[in-house]
Amino acid sequence: MTVSQIFETMDYGKAPESAAEALAWLVDQGSRFGHFIDGEFTKPGDGFDSRNPATGEVLATLTQATQSDVDTAVKAARKAQPKWEKLGGHGRARYLYALARLLQKHSRLFAVLEVLDNGKPIREARDIDVPLAQRHFYYHAGMAQLMESELPDAQALGVCGQIIPWNFPLLMLAWKIAPALAMGNTVVLKPAEYTSLTALLFADICRQAGLPKGVVNIVTGDGAVGEMIVSAEVDKIAFTGSTAVGRRIREATAGSGKALTLELGGKSPYIVFDDADLDSAVEGLVDAIWFNQGQVCCAGSRLLVHEPVAEAFYAKLRNRMEKLRVGDPLDKSIDVGALVDPVQLKSVSDLVSANTAGERFTATAAMPEQGCFYPPTLITGLNPADTLMQEEIFGPVLVSTTFRTPLEAVSLANNTRYGLAATVWSENINLALDIAPKLAAGIVWINGTNMMDAAAGFGGVRESGFGREGGWEGLAGYTRPKGTAKPLKYIEPFSGEGAPSDPIDRTAKLYIGGKQSRPDSGYSAPVWGKSGALLGHASLASRKDVRNAVEAAHAAKGWSGTTGHLRAQILYYVAENLAARSDEFANRLNDLQGGKSGAAEVEAAIRRLFTYAAWADKYDGQIHGVPIRGVALAMKEPVGVIGALCPAEAPLLGLISCMAPAIAMGNRVILAASEPFPLAATDFAQILETSDIPAGVVNILTGPHADLAEPLARHMDVDAVWSFGAADLSAVIEKAAASNLKRTWVNHGMARNWSEAEGEGRAFLQAATEVKNVWIPYGE
Ligand code: NAI
Repeated sequence: MTVSQIFETMDYGKAPESAAEALAWLVDQGSRFGHFIDGEFTKPGDGFDSRNPATGEVLATLTQATQSDVDTAVKAARKAQPKWEKLGGHGRARYLYALARLLQKHSRLFAVLEVLDNGKPIREARDIDVPLAQRHFYYHAGMAQLMESELPDAQALGVCGQIIPWNFPLLMLAWKIAPALAMGNTVVLKPAEYTSLTALLFADICRQAGLPKGVVNIVTGDGAVGEMIVSAEVDKIAFTGSTAVGRRIREATAGSGKALTLELGGKSPYIVFDDADLDSAVEGLVDAIWFNQGQVCCAGSRLLVHEPVAEAFYAKLRNRMEKLRVGDPLDKSIDVGALVDPVQLKSVSDLVSANTAGERFTATAAMPEQGCFYPPTLITGLNPADTLMQEEIFGPVLVSTTFRTPLEAVSLANNTRYGLAATVWSENINLALDIAPKLAAGIVWINGTNMMDAAAGFGGVRESGFGREGGWEGLAGYTRPKGTAKPLKYIEPFSGEGAPSDPIDRTAKLYIGGKQSRPDSGYSAPVWGKSGALLGHASLASRKDVRNAVEAAHAAKGWSGTTGHLRAQILYYVAENLAARSDEFANRLNDLQGGKSGAAEVEAAIRRLFTYAAWADKYDGQIHGVPIRGVALAMKEPVGVIGALCPAEAPLLGLISCMAPAIAMGNRVILAASEPFPLAATDFAQILETSDIPAGVVNILTGPHADLAEPLARHMDVDAVWSFGAADLSAVIEKAAASNLKRTWVNHGMARNWSEAEGEGRAFLQAATEVKNVWIPYGE
């Protein structure tokens, strides 16, 4: 068809981008690649082919890394790290800026290579993947520059192992490498086996930028190489990929002291209300589910439509689907390209063929005869429990059901184990902003979808993983507090061998759901003072008591909806009640611990309550200026139900240091009291009883932490576990936490001085909150 014919008929005409430059680059490299270690490409070894999924043609041969390759890469990164960190923020900023510039200079080459390797349409690689990757390096050049002034207490983690998937190969690399380098870390990155070529091209530009050797190392290979990185001597693992692999990594790193961030799958709801601009919402769906062939972790893959407009909306949608062009990814007129590999194509086809529920509509678009292509598909009339409504399909397949009321929309939207993103379409600002906070998701888009930017943190809740990438909040994943922690000392409880027993029963009960309650086991243990005097008995909580406490905490969910102002008043009041009984508490602490530090500890506890009362209405979110029409409101939300194993030392101050930040931010807590000195906590329960804290917001258990840690960490309805007790239960907790991929904050056997600044402040507030980025239209 000639251009004039196309002009006359307005028919589709091909607009192919040339692959010549990218293919020439591959040939220049000998079409065989080794790894990039210590600033050089290694000699290619045994490996595997990397293919173009649109044609099946072999693009290059890659090397499967061996254990020794991974070790060499980690060694190079380790050696380079101190110098890279000492270079300072400005020095690093200049390198990140140079990388951003080189990515810009070679934009077209990166875009075409990405298309050849991954199968995504050139329009997307050119206009989204590559510009966003550049933006990430620019943005983080700025973060490096500002690190010393804005994050004076933060330092690099060290060496980061980074494992990325195949859906956005270059962009995921940028998301991982840019913040790590900005904060002074060095990296060993493994691209996905299907799509390693742009990572290798990136290695080439690291050389061009004169990046110091060993700062960026790239090893290629499959999941076995990923496992080697996970078990290598690295300080952090950053992973993006499937929830199944994320869970394995959580288990494998448990107790190792390695920091971990996981960005996993999703089944994100796309909610269309009856007052929505339906045409825009249909167009949004093209971006939500057919962008990158639906191989997007935050894809709006679960369409929920308001019943009154459902039929009209489906009709418009089917109409639009018929106009989507499926074909050669290098064609600039193409909407839907190839899936990444025959394996993925089979996985999508199998999932869809196995489904018998609902009604399937398949776009009748012309399909290429070969290659990993799958037609745009819509399945309506599904039930919430149907497999396709629950499982991530990761292909161009949209599933749908209808709802009647906003409340029903929210409950359907949240009926998933995932919590990555959500989209809301409505012309009613009141409705949209009423729904956004109710959605269990790390990102909410209003009247738009799949928008991403380096300034707005990206990441999820529930089984979509933890940690954020991008924004100020993303830096937490690549830094740790300055200073070196000392190992915890085990505190032996006092013994009262031979002391007279007390004829009166003074067994302190557990505090669950606002009531003193006997332990399910019926057992208790004596608590002796330093002098050998019997001070009372403490109940021994068991897993049944943990379950009861979790249930009580869940029932108190209204607390999470209260205002910071209210929570502040209540915390002040708790402090006042404690102050009124300070002598009594001071004496109790002296009896429990020996010595005379009781009065000072009570005073510190009162101050701490005041600190978090102060923070309750001041730990605000941010508004991110994003270079897309709109702003992203980074809202701080409570994590939910937090289980905390409180420190052995400072039995009152430690307990309050865990409780107060958590409840100030709107969480409900289950606190396991100091193991050797539990009676300070049970006395404190009396203060809670007379305060205005609603029943179930704070629950206190006593007994060996070793018995409570595992049930708390495994419980599916607990959202986070903190562990500061004397026994190092990090491994048990982190492993059990893989159950629902809850967040953990554990001490790895290291001490914290509870009476100093490290016992309070932003680290606690950060652990007590999730950031939800709500993208709203704003301005022109
Ligand atoms: P995957 O999770 O296996 O692969 C992602 C990365 O992890 C790759 O680099 C891979 O080599 C590596 N890996 C695999 N096993 C590993 C292990 N045991 N230890 C360490 N690293 C390991 O994802 P896969 O199998 O390619 O895709 C399967 C499904 O996962 C998809 O259909 C989709 O549902 C989901 N997925 C989600 C992604 C996301 O962005 N959230 C990205 C890719 C896949």
